[in-house]
Amino acid sequence: MENEISWSELPFGYMKCDYNVRCTFKDGKWGELRVSDSDEVSMSIAATCLHYGQAGFEGMKAFRGKDGKIRIFRIEENGKRLISTCQGVMMAPLPLELFCEAIKKVIKLNEKMVPPYESGSSLYIRPVLFGTGAQIGVRPAVEYEFIVFVMPVGSYFKDGFKASPCCILRHFDRAAPYGTGQWKVGGNYAAGLQAGVKAHDMGYSAVVYLDARSKKYIDECGPANFFGIKNNFYITPMSESILPSITNNSLMTLAKELGMNIEQREIPVEELETFDEVGMCGTAAVISPISRIDDLDKNKTYKFIENNTPGNICSTLYSKLKAIQYGDEEDKYNWITTVE
Ligand code: PLP
Ligand code: COI
Repeated sequence: MENEISWSELPFGYMKCDYNVRCTFKDGKWGELRVSDSDEVSMSIAATCLHYGQAGFEGMKAFRGKDGKIRIFRIEENGKRLISTCQGVMMAPLPLELFCEAIKKVIKLNEKMVPPYESGSSLYIRPVLFGTGAQIGVRPAVEYEFIVFVMPVGSYFKDGFKASPCCILRHFDRAAPYGTGQWKVGGNYAAGLQAGVKAHDMGYSAVVYLDARSKKYIDECGPANFFGIKNNFYITPMSESILPSITNNSLMTLAKELGMNIEQREIPVEELETFDEVGMCGTAAVISPISRIDDLDKNKTYKFIENNTPGNICSTLYSKLKAIQYGDEEDKYNWITTVE
C-alpha cells in the first residue's frame, strides 16, 4: 500500500493502517496491550460512550527526519492531557507509562506509513479512550477501552502553510465556563459541528469562538488555539473553557527564545484591530495564519493580511517548530522521543 501513496499530497483524513494497539480496563485494572489488525470495535449497545459521551481522545504526530529516524513530538504532554480528560469525565485514567508504550508500539508496527522527510507530511497518532461498560442510569462505566491508531497526513487546512479567513458566530458556543472545554472530550467537537459546517459553507477555515459567559473575549478556534502578535508580544487567551494546547505551549517557549514577550490573558474582540499577525495553532493545524476575521453579527472585518502569505513572525515560529519536529534543529527542550 505504501508504494501507492503520494506522500506530499496527502489530505488530513482517515486511512486504515495495518495495526492498532488496544488496552482494556476491566475488574478495576488496565490489562496488557494488544495488537489488532481490525479497525472496528464491538461493545454493548448500552456503552456509556454511546449514550452519555464518556469518550476522550488525543492528537499527536511523529515525523521522519533526514536521518531516517522517527521522532514523536511531546508524547508525555499528550499522555498527561489524556489523564486529565479521563478525570474530567470520570473515565479510568490510562497510566502514562502504558500510554507511551502503546504509542511507541503502534508507530513501530506501522513504521512504513511514516511519510518520508522530503514530503513534509507526518504520521498522525490518534489515541482514543471510551466507556464500554453498560449503564442505563447516568453514571460512569466500570469498563473502558483505549485504542491508538495512526495514519499518514498532510495539512489540516487546505493549501498548507497559507493564511485563510475565519469568522465569529455569536450564536454558537463550543464549551461553557466550568464545562468540558479544558478536556479533549468528543462532546466538545459535537457541540462545534453546526458552527463549523456553517463557517466552511461560507468559505471560512474555522470559527473563532468567544467566551460563552460574556461574549467579550476570544476563546479559541474550532480545532486549535488562537494567538496574536504585536509589538514583539505573543498574546494568547487565558480561559477556563479552552483546550490547553501543547503546540501553543511550545510556541510560547519558542517565541520567548526569539526574545518576544509572552502574555496569556483575556483578549477582547476589539483588540483584534491592533494585531499585526494572528493565527491558529494545534497538532493538526500546526500554525495556520489567519488572513482576516469577519465578525458576522457585528458586520465588522478585521484584516491582517492582503493576500494569503503568512506574516514574518508566524513564518519564523512555523519554521522553528518544524525544524525541531523533523530533527533539523537541536531538541533543546526535550520535546522529542525517538522510536527505536
Ligand atoms: N483546541 C482544540 C479545541 C483542539 O481540538 C486542539 C487540537 O488538539 C487544540 C486546541 C490544539 O491542541 P494541541 O496543540 O495540543 O494539538
Ligand atoms: C489535533 O490537532 O490533533 C486535533 O485533535 C484537532 C482536530 C483534528 C480535532
